[in-house]
Amino acid sequence: MKILILLVLACACALPAWAHGDEDHDDDALETIVIGDVEIPAAPTYHEHARPILEAKCASCHQAGQIAAYAPLTDAQDAIYAAPDIKFHVLNGLMPPWLPSRANRPLKYNRSLSDLEIATLAAWVDAGAALGDPAEYAPAPSDVIGLPDIRADLTLQLETPYSPAEEVLDDYRCFAFPLDIAAPQFITGYAFLPGVMEMAHHAILFLVDSAMAGAVAALDGADGAPGWTCYGSSGLPQSGDIIAAWAPGSYGIQFPAGTGYRIEPGQIVVMQMHYNLWTTRQPDQTQVRLQLEPGGAALDELLTIPLSAPVEIPCPSGVDGPQCEREAALDRIAALYGEEMRGGPDRRLRHCRQTLAEYADNTGENARGYCDFPNRYPQPLTVFGVAGHMHELGISFRMELNPESEEPLLLLDIPRWDFHWQDGYEFVEPVRIKRGDTLRITCAWNNALSESPRYVVWGEGTADEMCFATLMALKQ
Ligand code: HEC
Repeated sequence: MKILILLVLACACALPAWAHGDEDHDDDALETIVIGDVEIPAAPTYHEHARPILEAKCASCHQAGQIAAYAPLTDAQDAIYAAPDIKFHVLNGLMPPWLPSRANRPLKYNRSLSDLEIATLAAWVDAGAALGDPAEYAPAPSDVIGLPDIRADLTLQLETPYSPAEEVLDDYRCFAFPLDIAAPQFITGYAFLPGVMEMAHHAILFLVDSAMAGAVAALDGADGAPGWTCYGSSGLPQSGDIIAAWAPGSYGIQFPAGTGYRIEPGQIVVMQMHYNLWTTRQPDQTQVRLQLEPGGAALDELLTIPLSAPVEIPCPSGVDGPQCEREAALDRIAALYGEEMRGGPDRRLRHCRQTLAEYADNTGENARGYCDFPNRYPQPLTVFGVAGHMHELGISFRMELNPESEEPLLLLDIPRWDFHWQDGYEFVEPVRIKRGDTLRITCAWNNALSESPRYVVWGEGTADEMCFATLMALKQ
């Protein structure tokens, strides 16, 4: 049977509106996407049709001991029980978790489902979630995420296990590992081995300069437990370069052949763990394996290039008061992070050659921040991967190359931001950025998502926001 399925996506799609001017963004807007012309089976069954997809694309997380253990999808009974939920989640693009849109430039380790897989699961549910004959089962051909083989030349692991904080459901904790190396090295790959998979929601490695040793010593263990609480970054005065990221469903990365991140004796690796504590709370000793080459090796040095845009988010409609003044937000930032931070939001505007007038149309429900970055390096850049970062008010994120040209490239398009599923993304084909090319990042926020709305500017804390991105690149 051939059918054409129209999918209705309930989507907080703010960016298309922004991209075409400043018409108001409608939260209830429905985007209809065509899933394409696919041939679905006439009488789909669990064993023949649904099971191979669930095993290949869902079970890695939906099984005992993994992040979605509370909703197992490993046997027929579980799947039939969850059938309506499965249909809802796959039709709306909510599962598997994969934030980049289908318009995005192709990315490695893509967890999302194909048109045929979505249509098959939906048809199976619609036809009554029949069990079928186990003899018809054949495993899906493994086109799934291939895991790189990473050598453990240096292993980082907490000496004392960390027990997540009792009072929170999401605990963000940073741990420091002074690099025990006698001479410069290159990191050419890494692997994360979470201690307790059920609560490991994401991990990021920051490479921090030796000058931060004092700040690390002051924070580490100050509340009586290993490490320190950190949120949007490493929590240090200089946050450091992001050199690695992990989220469930992945393992690690082998950097492009002939490249690596250079590390020096005295530098410190800070690991930020995000523990999600819905299902369990156990002591953790997550391990990170680093694969190294000697610093003298003929490798090209990878850079993490940070990009950031202004954050100017007014109060949502119906909320008034002194907390809705920008000046109050600057006072708050100065009180929390030091007087020199008061000028941060204005400095950010200047760096992007903007004034506050640029954001006169921002509303609490749809505020955007953007910045253009012309490539002023004398040599071109080769970009292997990108990441975007906002906090919990974020609704969409976009990174484009030459947005005003006839052939803009969409490097990262996240139409529905989810703070819990931020990831680093690697391109299937690296992107060349020539001298004079312009990169643009655009973020959008909805301040009505805040429990205590006030004017929000850039800051590190849970209640502040960011519009931040990184490029993993080579200067050549
Ligand atoms: C990378 C890990 C991962 C993969 C792969 C994954 N899920 Fe999930 N899933 C989760 C997590 C974690 C949750 C809990 C909600 C959240 O964090 O978004 C969840 C929640 C769900 C829920 C809601 C359960 C409930 O009752 O609350 C359904 C249904 C679901 N997933 C179906 C699927 C299906 C179907 C697939 C495969 C097509 C899939 N998931 C693949 C991690 C994953």
